[in-house]
Amino acid sequence: MNAKRTTVTAALPYANGPLHIGHIAGAYLPADLYVRYLRLRGQDVIFICGSDEHGAAITLRAKKEGITPREIIDKYDASIRETFARFGIAFDIYHRTSEPIHHQTSQDIFLRLYEKGEFVEQVTEQYFDEQFQQFLADRYITGTCPVCANPNAYGDQCERCGSSLNPTDLKNPISTLSGQPPVLRQTRHWYLPLDKYQPWLETWLMEGKKNIWKNNVYGQCGSWLRAGLQPRAMTRDLDWGVDVPLPEAEGKKLYVWMDAPIGYISATRQLFQELATGSYQFATPQRSFEGVRAEDWELYWKSEDTRLLHFVGKDNIVFHCLIFPAILHAHGDYIVPDNVPANEFLNLEGDKMSTSRNFAVWLHEYLDDFPGKEDVLRYVLCSILPEQKDSDFTWKDFQARNNNELADTLGNLVNRVVVLTQKYYHGVVPPAGNQVSPMQATAEAQVQASIAACEAALENFRFREALNECMNVARAANKFLGDEEPWKKWKSDPEDVGRILHAALQMIGRLAVLTRVFLPHTAARLADMLRLELDSLTWDRLSGTILPTGHQIVTEAPAVLFEKIEDTIIEAQLQKLTPSQPPMVPADSPETSTPQPVPARPEITYEDFQRMDIRIGTILEASRVPKADKLLQFKVDTGLDIRTILSGVAEYFTPEEMVGRQVPVLINLKPRTIRGIESQGMILFPEDHKGLHLMLPTVPVAPGAVVK
Ligand code: 2FM
Ligand code: ZN
Repeated sequence: MNAKRTTVTAALPYANGPLHIGHIAGAYLPADLYVRYLRLRGQDVIFICGSDEHGAAITLRAKKEGITPREIIDKYDASIRETFARFGIAFDIYHRTSEPIHHQTSQDIFLRLYEKGEFVEQVTEQYFDEQFQQFLADRYITGTCPVCANPNAYGDQCERCGSSLNPTDLKNPISTLSGQPPVLRQTRHWYLPLDKYQPWLETWLMEGKKNIWKNNVYGQCGSWLRAGLQPRAMTRDLDWGVDVPLPEAEGKKLYVWMDAPIGYISATRQLFQELATGSYQFATPQRSFEGVRAEDWELYWKSEDTRLLHFVGKDNIVFHCLIFPAILHAHGDYIVPDNVPANEFLNLEGDKMSTSRNFAVWLHEYLDDFPGKEDVLRYVLCSILPEQKDSDFTWKDFQARNNNELADTLGNLVNRVVVLTQKYYHGVVPPAGNQVSPMQATAEAQVQASIAACEAALENFRFREALNECMNVARAANKFLGDEEPWKKWKSDPEDVGRILHAALQMIGRLAVLTRVFLPHTAARLADMLRLELDSLTWDRLSGTILPTGHQIVTEAPAVLFEKIEDTIIEAQLQKLTPSQPPMVPADSPETSTPQPVPARPEITYEDFQRMDIRIGTILEASRVPKADKLLQFKVDTGLDIRTILSGVAEYFTPEEMVGRQVPVLINLKPRTIRGIESQGMILFPEDHKGLHLMLPTVPVAPGAVVK
């Protein structure tokens, strides 16, 4: 690490709903771990976050709750900020993109690009809702996906097959505001010519970050670049957001993905303004910011000896690796990210977490249900972080990790060492003695090797491995105690017991330092037990004596660090996950999140219906399509012929379970070639908020039976 300072950002959450553990595992926990580590090493680091308060996500939510966008952001900003604080994510500032300083910062950056002639101005046709008299943001338009025929695709993306779309790609588009088909109207917008920056992105990222950035991040960027970047509009016809600072753009707003990442910069400006004027109140500063000036924010964004790191989830990769760097590069004064250690998705009990389906473990509910157990969740999430690929949170695993690892390994170790020291030495650290047993030498070497491995893993954003190495310190110490059996030696060789406990105390002292990264609440309790000043437990204390001979540790019975979690508690949590339960949102919320039905489509005639030839077909064969995660390829006996049909259903069904099924098939749909394979028809599936299901005849029917 040669940089003088590090700017760490964590994705700004939309202030439109509560946080769930997927958000935490995606960005906030890894960022927090990394920042805590840097602080322990005495590095100059700032940790930036805040609420993302613009964009269709907010206005859609406001419409749903029947209140204004301002009311939505005030409500959710307050609850998200409180939840982060309760959980202990140690930001230096938690800002808001609705703040004037943010509007000004993002307008300044937009204007600089405008003045440099970076934008391409273009008049295009976009969908307009005549009844509501407004242009429709991509998310306000649904229709049929041109790739997989999902009838509920959004204007920017099909959530079934993952295709990224433009609203005009959709077949039968419908405005979600009025439920009517929208019309096309001309409108002027300012486009960021990402195609123009592609060569720079290829050099900077594809060449410069090869074998440095994580595979999942580098790979995703590569596939965007291989597909070729297109200009992207940085302005929108919306009534909520940052005004486009051009006289000819009245009523238009900045695209939320232009303004949101600039929010990191605004937050930094705000932080330094507050520090310089002495009005900083957000939290106890994590380090001394003494003597800083308001303009010092620039050091963290414009100085070549600063490292900029963006912690985000998988769905934010393109914005942080391609679009925002292109903006910063086009501006000219800013540094671009050194790394974007993004994570993949965390699933829950084998299913996708979803705010709209109310299927998640909500962080504020966890904190209510498990008071004092913040670190248990930190531990479990850190153990299963989706660092390379999606991973799964299950309550049984949560229980097992708490009971077997935190309680039995870490908690038990600390308890044994403290109790033995109290019992034999009234809580005073005994002398080390002059001998080192082979078992002690082995254990100490293992502890130091694990510390070194933990450090290397942290440096490289491999937090699961780092945590495991931290636990290896506890495992080595436990084994050491078990092998030495000091309780059996007290009578015969009390001096040797002193040696063992002296060594064991150093080991739990080192754990007090290491846990400051992973389990900060536990670290504070451990420091209390050992009567060590928490702030003194810095990374450089991991070698050498941490508890000197004669040091007095606690004399009262030590608190239990981790209680076992009973089955009934876990069952209650599992029970909560059934969709019939009321929505899991903060208590003051009037929200009900019953799944919303898809709006009705416009009327058709019987003749329209009759044009569709739907038959019952029998699936003869089913297989996955190479390099297409979502697609299954079927051979279907339609009664008339045997044909190939592709469906974007691989996330719902395995090929094996489909073989032999009888399914309705639209057989006169014009064939389409997908991934080089001609699909000759469409299998029909009912879809609800839980996904796709099979629609089976109640009795076996002959292939070719007409559905009418
Ligand atoms: O995906 C999201 O939740 C966005 N609000 C993240 C924004 S990150 C940054 F650009 F601000
Ligand atoms: Zn699709």
